[in-house]
Amino acid sequence: MSAIGVFDSGVGGLTVLKALRDRWPGQDFIYLADTARLPYGSKSLDTIHHYADQNIRHLLKYGVSAVVVACNSASTAILEKPLQCEVPVINVVEPGAKRAVSTSSGGRIAVFGTRATVLSEAYPKAILKLKPASDVHQQACPLLVPLVEEGWFDDPITNLIVYRYVQGVARFQPDTLILGCTHYPALKASIQRAIGGHVNLVDSSQGVIDELENGLLKDRPPGTGGTIRILATDFSPRLRETIDLLLGGPGAVTVETVNIN
Ligand code: DGL
Repeated sequence: MSAIGVFDSGVGGLTVLKALRDRWPGQDFIYLADTARLPYGSKSLDTIHHYADQNIRHLLKYGVSAVVVACNSASTAILEKPLQCEVPVINVVEPGAKRAVSTSSGGRIAVFGTRATVLSEAYPKAILKLKPASDVHQQACPLLVPLVEEGWFDDPITNLIVYRYVQGVARFQPDTLILGCTHYPALKASIQRAIGGHVNLVDSSQGVIDELENGLLKDRPPGTGGTIRILATDFSPRLRETIDLLLGGPGAVTVETVNIN
């Protein structure tokens, strides 16, 4: 199968890409990081939708067989206003909601997300559609994306900010917390520590794997030797360091700068 395209505003979607690569090491991937226009989460859904459309069109030029929208903010924009595409486009919100509903013990589900994702109410809508008896509480966490882009995964400042956001959902007493931004799994240890081990953390990659296992990559053996080609709309030396940190070592990964306009 030809490469699968994956995109995000920055490095956050690499948390999804890593999980996909670990599950199907023989699959080729092309990852687009729209670093020139990051962050998406503080922009309007119309603007994010326009960026998502451009990113998908760009990935199609490489002959990808599907596109994984490894960005909750962009997934939200596409769910609000679906776009036409000749290959399957997989969003992260619906699979994440499905996963949360199926693993939640008491239906008390908290969501951490960007402002765009939280304001759109994409998660509450998806969760309540699947299980109307659920209780959902959202918390926007706008300061977490820059910390992840900076590679501050385990840092006292990061832990303090995470603690502050956790206070926003603690009184709700969730049994499950959706990490509704693909940057946040990089802070999973810090978030789990702050919220407590009894809360089940759900991230976007698990839901996407479920979706691909039941669809596009059904019965596909894991294989070996897949490649990862990373395209970035803006490149800084720091970016390469964060990519290596998130993918767990350089491996067969190439990084190049692209102009998508
Ligand atoms: N990682 C993205 C998300 O899942 C976007 C973060 C941002 O650019 O604000 O929403």
